[in-house]
Amino acid sequence: MTGPRPAPRLLRSSRLSGLIAAAYDLGTGGMERRLFGERRRRLLGVARGEVLDVGGGTGANLPHLAPGQVARLVLLDPSPGMLARARRRARELGVEAQLVRGRAEWLPFPDRSFDAVVFTLSLCTIGDPATALGEARRVLRQGGRLLVLEHVRAADPRLAGWQDRLTPLWRRIGGGCHLNRDTRAAVEAAGFRFESADEFLEERIPIPVLRPHLVGVAHRDDRSP
Ligand SMILES: C[S@@+](CC[C@H](N)C(=O)[O-])C[C@H]1O[C@@H](n2cnc3c(N)ncnc32)[C@H](O)[C@@H]1O
Repeated sequence: MTGPRPAPRLLRSSRLSGLIAAAYDLGTGGMERRLFGERRRRLLGVARGEVLDVGGGTGANLPHLAPGQVARLVLLDPSPGMLARARRRARELGVEAQLVRGRAEWLPFPDRSFDAVVFTLSLCTIGDPATALGEARRVLRQGGRLLVLEHVRAADPRLAGWQDRLTPLWRRIGGGCHLNRDTRAAVEAAGFRFESADEFLEERIPIPVLRPHLVGVAHRDDRSP
């Protein structure tokens, strides 16, 4: 037989990514809703106009974006398994979303094309967060907002020390997730200014090195280059 044959590695990787995505939802679903549902709802209530959810995963933010306020929603993620689940969730919720396979470090969108860019629990995993935040700034319109909900580096030096020690192992088992990123500083270094930033310790999270969390809204600081 002639003609194109399926690329086995790609197939395997997309099957594997489906399993990882299912495990992610199974492992985080209940806890996620209890611990972050309300925080997501409040944060995403600010989003309006054209919205980009970077590293949107299986679509955990979809139920929290107000349809009357959001004119266009794009969810970007490199994982086909995550995107497949996000597609299903969008269909179930009746949410219209454009799903794009891609990476935060190279956003396939023109300059100043979104009113809000969202990162929730993804800046810990994205390979090059500084480049990703630069891209987010590029695609945001003037007056546009960056919305973040992330677990971050602890201010307590002892806890931060454990985050540093455990990150190499955690990255391997956690799909590239870093425990020790100072995301607030990274956002500011990328040319954003926080309008609101709240760091909170969610005691119900059973793993201390996964605390604290940052929830914040920032806008482009147009005095930055
Ligand atoms: C912990 S999940 C969070 C998913 C979702 N944002 C949420 O709030 O549940 C991290 C996501 O980041 C995605 N990711 C990893 N590297 C990425 C990259 N370079 N660019 C964009 N997304 C990436 C993963 O595929 C995964 O879906």
